[in-house]
Amino acid sequence: MGLSIVILAAGQGTRMRSSLPKVLQPLAGRPLLAHVIDCAHALAPDDVCIVHGHGAERVRSAFPGAGLRWALQAEQHGTGHALLQAMPGTPEGNRVLVLYGDVPLLEPGTLAKLLETPAGDVALLTVELADPTGYGRVVREDDSVRRIVEQKDATADERAIREVNTGVMVLPAARLKAWLSRLGNDNAQGEYYLTDVIAMAAADGVRVHGVRAPEQEEVMGINDRKQQAEAERALQRRQVEALMAEGVAFADPARVDIRGTLTCGRDVFIDVNAVFEGSVRLGDGVRIESNNLVRDSEVGDGTLVHSNCHIEGATAAAGCEIGPFARLRPGAKLAAGVKVGNFVEVKNSELGENSKANHLTYLGDSSIGVNVNVGAGTITCNYDGANKHRTVIGDRAFIGSGVMLVAPVEVGAGATVGAGSTITKPVPAGELALERSKQVVVKGWQRPAKKGK
Ligand code: UD1
Ligand code: CA
Repeated sequence: MGLSIVILAAGQGTRMRSSLPKVLQPLAGRPLLAHVIDCAHALAPDDVCIVHGHGAERVRSAFPGAGLRWALQAEQHGTGHALLQAMPGTPEGNRVLVLYGDVPLLEPGTLAKLLETPAGDVALLTVELADPTGYGRVVREDDSVRRIVEQKDATADERAIREVNTGVMVLPAARLKAWLSRLGNDNAQGEYYLTDVIAMAAADGVRVHGVRAPEQEEVMGINDRKQQAEAERALQRRQVEALMAEGVAFADPARVDIRGTLTCGRDVFIDVNAVFEGSVRLGDGVRIESNNLVRDSEVGDGTLVHSNCHIEGATAAAGCEIGPFARLRPGAKLAAGVKVGNFVEVKNSELGENSKANHLTYLGDSSIGVNVNVGAGTITCNYDGANKHRTVIGDRAFIGSGVMLVAPVEVGAGATVGAGSTITKPVPAGELALERSKQVVVKGWQRPAKKGK
């Protein structure tokens, strides 16, 4: 039997107190709904339909990719009403798995267990809670689920039940359509409850399996900032545990954040307060010292990133040394053995093997050869107020301290530029260029003294 997955994502999320629709709130740097969509796709369904309502345009445009069907629930009249909106277009012969845009930590393996039940039956994911307040209670009879009763509609006895409805369930589409069409809203909230479908199934002689989730964390819904932060920590711990299992060493697994994909080689060490965003690859033996942000970058084997660097859209080959306090901006390409030291900013520039810029330097829009030494306080003046220009520095050139390289400009291979020079014309290979006024000594000059009182 084919599988259709419906994700309910129309709610506003009032308790977030945010102008962003709840399902677009970030978790590990991506919208809540993105995590649910990933989980859905992992089950290889025929069809994924998202029921959206609040912030419909914004939600839809956050997922421009193909492979999703969108059903609009303009007004929110309950979870049963929400699911009904997805039914046109859902093949009658399929099973329907219901997920939620604000329940982002579910694992495909847990859902696979739910799907192991016979296709003609109904299966409900449940969880035992120490404090079930607020949740729909699962009423069992023999070994089957008979019905679900919402907190607001429950008797005192029913409220004592600790097994609750997670909302996640799988049902045969044709029967689901019939049950949904029969739902009423005669209840405490005046809503069409999806949960009432369970009693209808039981009354029609369809077996309802209650499958217990392995842990509460997986089925946690996000309704407020506190739950968002708890889910963030839970997901971070999951990601770090997976990396540790692959051999990555963390100084403190609780003090690292991965907002995207971090891929690591062998013997990588990551110190505290490292944040990885987007797609980051770290080669074998890479060390990331404390307080680093690394976004969409590649760091080669054996490279050392000292503390307090900001690295984005950069690549560093093997054996580089970066920082402390270095900034690599998009298009920074460091070849093997390059050193970029403290307070050095590199943007849209290639540095050849073993070249060094150790202190207080800006290298923008430049091509730097191999074995070049860039002295402290050197700046490539790449911007004339309107356009950007390139600086080209040949192999083995030596740029003294405090040099202004006014682009477009070229320094030849093996050339030397004296400290303090402002270079505006080409420097021929192998020659020395100096641009300084002569030093003057004024004999007997007196420093001004403070005017007397
Ligand atoms: C629901 C269940 C309850 C369960 C709990 C688990 C019902 C009637 N109750 O209660 O048994 O224990 O979830 O968290 O199903 N939504 C829509 N459109 C709507 C209403 C809701 O898309 O018209 C979406 C919401 O965005 C949310 C989800 O469905 O993601 C759950 O809705 P909510 O109203 O929060 O249900 P609960 O009262 O929490
Ligand atoms: Ca809820």
